[in-house]
Amino acid sequence: MRVFITAGASGIGHAYARTFMAEGAQVAVTDIDAEAIAALRGTDPAILAHHADVTDEIAIAGAIGQTVEAFGGLDIVCANAGIGGPAGALETLDAAEWRACIDVNLTGAFLTAKHAIPHLRAGTNPLLLFTSSTAGLFGYPGRGPYNAAKWALTGLTKTLAMELGGDGIRVNALAPGAVEGARMERVLAAEAAAHGRPIEEMRAQYVKGVSMRSWVTAEDIAATALFLASPAARRISGQVIPVDGHTETLAPL
Ligand SMILES: NC(=O)c1ccc[n+]([C@@H]2O[C@H](COP(=O)([O-])OP(=O)(O)OC[C@H]3O[C@@H](n4cnc5c(N)ncnc54)[C@H](O)[C@@H]3O)[C@@H](O)[C@H]2O)c1
Repeated sequence: MRVFITAGASGIGHAYARTFMAEGAQVAVTDIDAEAIAALRGTDPAILAHHADVTDEIAIAGAIGQTVEAFGGLDIVCANAGIGGPAGALETLDAAEWRACIDVNLTGAFLTAKHAIPHLRAGTNPLLLFTSSTAGLFGYPGRGPYNAAKWALTGLTKTLAMELGGDGIRVNALAPGAVEGARMERVLAAEAAAHGRPIEEMRAQYVKGVSMRSWVTAEDIAATALFLASPAARRISGQVIPVDGHTETLAPL
């Protein structure tokens, strides 16, 4: 398997990289964080690590081109990059922050798909996998831009599955619930500030909204990505698959 992952220097993307590596795959990642990319080259030297912002078309096309040159093609593309965006009532939000959120979560996915698709056509059991969120399955008061961007990924998943199914390319999205780690700590802090509530109360609210009363790990998400990349999932396309312990609600108020 030849795998390309955006935002792979940390978090879910890094879990993807490690999980696919453990299966013997050739793995390339991009990340906007130059220091994290340098660190990754030290800790995981077998991973082909590119410094690229997913919203920069030239950079992302270049990273995909270099990966194809190094691996001789591409089978799995994880368009994973996403940022949380601003938190607060919609009328209080800044337009530049709205655009940045849409740009990374949605346009970044488009650019990655655009430049990967010609290579996926020649891949083995090819899969284009977006990282959505439970925010793409529910309304999410106080997180309008992120919510809108993740719902838009559902449209992209369905349409691309139809456009590419005839070429044997499967297109799916994973919808992680709250993932243990640094990012959710940042999200909790931003939402606590926006709603004027203590962080621990926000954390308890998230856990209460999940049937299994727990968060998930990046490894839980990566395990599902690995299944979708396997021959066992060869007829699964056009789906948004939650990995969240079954979310009941995201409403924080
Ligand atoms: N962590 C969660 O709880 C959670 C839940 C649901 C969905 N998601 C989604 O999963 C994906 C990955 O999330 P995460 O928690 O691993 O993120 P994270 O905040 O931990 O960041 C992971 C990496 O993304 C990189 N990155 C940020 N902007 C980038 C850009 N423009 N171009 C390239 N790289 C960039 C960062 O440098 C970082 O190394 C995102 O699409 C996110 O929306 C995360």
